[in-house]
Amino acid sequence: MRARLGILLSGRGSNFEAIARNVLNGKLPCEIALVFSNKPEAAGLQLARDLGLPHAAIKSAGVERTAFDAQVAALLKEHRVDWVCLAGYMRLLSSTFVSQFAGRILNIHPSLLPAFPGLDAQYQALTHGAKLTGCTVHFVDENLDNGPILLQAAVPVLDNDTVESLSGRILIEEHKIYSEAIAWVLRGDYRIEGRRVLKI
Ligand code: GRF
Repeated sequence: MRARLGILLSGRGSNFEAIARNVLNGKLPCEIALVFSNKPEAAGLQLARDLGLPHAAIKSAGVERTAFDAQVAALLKEHRVDWVCLAGYMRLLSSTFVSQFAGRILNIHPSLLPAFPGLDAQYQALTHGAKLTGCTVHFVDENLDNGPILLQAAVPVLDNDTVESLSGRILIEEHKIYSEAIAWVLRGDYRIEGRRVLKI
């Protein structure tokens, strides 16, 4: 049976779109079982609607984290989601949520972790004076931008870069490595040793 992805997003949804394109063109052997957003107005959710994919939203503002996450987990289970892909999901996950999908949650972050975790990673890289930055796909644990790293792509920081130009160049790589990482976990030919994700 094909693996079922649950995509969690809060905004634009360009990573979701790249994944969806690879599912539709057969490069990713899985189905998108649910696109969920904590922001009903997220552009990514509209995209899911346009693509005819199952989608749902619950407003997170003002809701206690564990209670909110329990609703999200129930929704994902209802849709028989095997793998959870965070794609610009602007919320920390509770440890209960993480343990319910242990080892089956992925995230993409726009820096070479562990450099520049958290918000505005491209701005952080630029203002720090980094000459190289990039993006990282990693497993998600209870800590922010912290779990074992699956794939990274490096991007040079140019002298005339702005946050926008740098972010755009990183995004091109994000769209490639997120699908590559998903394809890898779906193949299952990896093992985790400590923090290291190794090919088997
Ligand atoms: C991306 O830069 C991703 O790395 C970060 O949030 C942004 C989401 O962009 N986690 P999009 O919504 O996928 O276009």
